[in-house]
Amino acid sequence: MADLIAEEKINQIRQAIDIVEIIGDYVQLKKQGRNYFGLCPFHGENTPSFSVSPDKQIFHCFGCGAGGNVFSFLMELEGISFQETAIRLAEKAQIDLQINPTQFSKQKSISKELQAMYDAHELLRKFYHHLLVNTKDGQHALEYLLNRGFTRDSIDKFQVGYSLNSWDFIYKFLLKRDFQPEWMEKAGLVIKRERDGTFFDRFRDRIMFPIFDRNGKTIAFSGRALGADEPKYLNSPETAIFNKSKILYNFHLARPHIRKTQHVILFEGFADVIAADRSGVENGVATMGTSLTDEHISLIRQNVQSITICYDSDKAGVEAAFRAGKHLSEAGCSIKVSLMPDRLDPDEYIKKYGDEKFRIEVIGASLTWMSFKFLYFRREKNLQDEGDRLTYIEEILKEISSLPKAVERDHYLRQLASEFSLSLDALKQQQKQNYFAEKRNSKGQKQAVVMPLSIPKQVNELKPAHYTAEMRLIKHMLKSRDVAYKVQELLHGNTFNIDEHQAIITYLLGFYEDHINPDPSAFLNYIQDDKLRRIVVNIEMMSINEDLSDQELNDYIKQVLNYQKWLKIKEKEMEEKVAEREQDFKKAATIAMEIIQLRKSLKI
Ligand code: GTP
Ligand code: MN
Repeated sequence: MADLIAEEKINQIRQAIDIVEIIGDYVQLKKQGRNYFGLCPFHGENTPSFSVSPDKQIFHCFGCGAGGNVFSFLMELEGISFQETAIRLAEKAQIDLQINPTQFSKQKSISKELQAMYDAHELLRKFYHHLLVNTKDGQHALEYLLNRGFTRDSIDKFQVGYSLNSWDFIYKFLLKRDFQPEWMEKAGLVIKRERDGTFFDRFRDRIMFPIFDRNGKTIAFSGRALGADEPKYLNSPETAIFNKSKILYNFHLARPHIRKTQHVILFEGFADVIAADRSGVENGVATMGTSLTDEHISLIRQNVQSITICYDSDKAGVEAAFRAGKHLSEAGCSIKVSLMPDRLDPDEYIKKYGDEKFRIEVIGASLTWMSFKFLYFRREKNLQDEGDRLTYIEEILKEISSLPKAVERDHYLRQLASEFSLSLDALKQQQKQNYFAEKRNSKGQKQAVVMPLSIPKQVNELKPAHYTAEMRLIKHMLKSRDVAYKVQELLHGNTFNIDEHQAIITYLLGFYEDHINPDPSAFLNYIQDDKLRRIVVNIEMMSINEDLSDQELNDYIKQVLNYQKWLKIKEKEMEEKVAEREQDFKKAATIAMEIIQLRKSLKI
């Protein structure tokens, strides 16, 4: 896990850092008793169910089940690796890790070829940016951008660049730095000529937008033509490191803002994302000029539920917004749609009307998904025409039928009734008819798949006795090394019934081999598995009797072992039935005896 950073350094960091202080940068915390409470940054909520324990140096959310130590908090919230987290925390604690930070971006496991692709992109991102902002060759491109309303700050922030008007500058530039032509071609940076096998640069005389992955590594480029050249935007092809259908532009910068605001804004173009960012809307992302894929949606859904679609207001944009909204609502998102006047796109709107008007009158005044559909179905219809009007009412009724809440259905039915001076009763009746007709038609058809939240809701429902017994035992084992060994002994080679619990105690016993004292936060680092970490935190947060009597301990062990016997009994009962059916009464009798023995041993 922490290959490159010595364990000892990690321990130092952990001891020097206070989780309350770090989390306090992201969440407003209030002290209540021994713990601190606040609104969970991992899911939207209005009442605080997120707690931080300074004693244990861990956090836990009772609402969504998120939990861990200071390392997992930052990793999860910032979307960064363990090493990156360690580096950040070490900086904060002023601990010298005695390593070269650039070492970390190079993962050992990836192949030389992939590494070369990443390196070439990194190098070119810097080089293109340099050409744009510092050189005469890039001056016209810089002027073009400034004219369009880009600022120097946003050019730096988004690392916008310029590619020279040359057929082979980049090819030679990379060759000189020992990049093999085949690798450059595979990375999509140069193209091979069929006729003589020579290479030429893919991007020439274009504004270069680097595309970053979610860790902030450059993995592709999109080059915008300066004039009316076609295509307007030229993208890197799909490569081993770049898959368009998985990438959302600006995701790596927007993620912390998305988490913080529990909201994401979806744009159509890069220029829109950058303009919105400039006007203070920092939680915006865009697809790479393609429609929204399932992968995009699941990436969004892992981070947030609430989304505003802010596409161009021309015909194509409105159609695309409708399609995107449909997919997103099937995935359980709550959707709003922002519209702009005069078929503008967000970038043009901001240039024309300014930042504040954009934030307030476009983003702030966005429509609910249903209100958008009211408008959507009206487009290109003449509502003075009876035929059009009836089609429109039918379409809207169908949409209303799909609303899950009766109050909502009622609200929109009233709206429709009053708009067209129709009788509410008639509309309601019609809507019901449509609903049942639709239901009959769709019987047996696949239901829309609702994607689960990344963080499963862990309702603390009543668990069976053996389950709670195992949790209590683990809780005591986490608190005391002696108890951990004792439990191990009392199990006599048996295991816990819940696989995750067994995995946790296996880790825990390993942990105690080289840690004399229990340490909840250190143990969380020791566990490799995210799911197990959450379970451990959940258990850590349980309240139990501080002192564990032998009686109590034995009761728990009995519950664990009894469950296994009980399973055995169930199994035997099945066997007995089979034997009886086969009229093998001798066998049935033997099994019955065994069952009696097992039942007896349960009571001990
Ligand atoms: P500007 O004209 O520079 O303001 O860009 P825009 O974002 O307004 O462009 P537009 O609305 O035409 O397109 C939206 C997005 O579609 C762009 O950001 C690109 O990702 C993509 N796109 C547009 N034109 C092309 C093209 O010719 N080829 C490809 N591959 N993508 C394009
Ligand atoms: Mn535009």
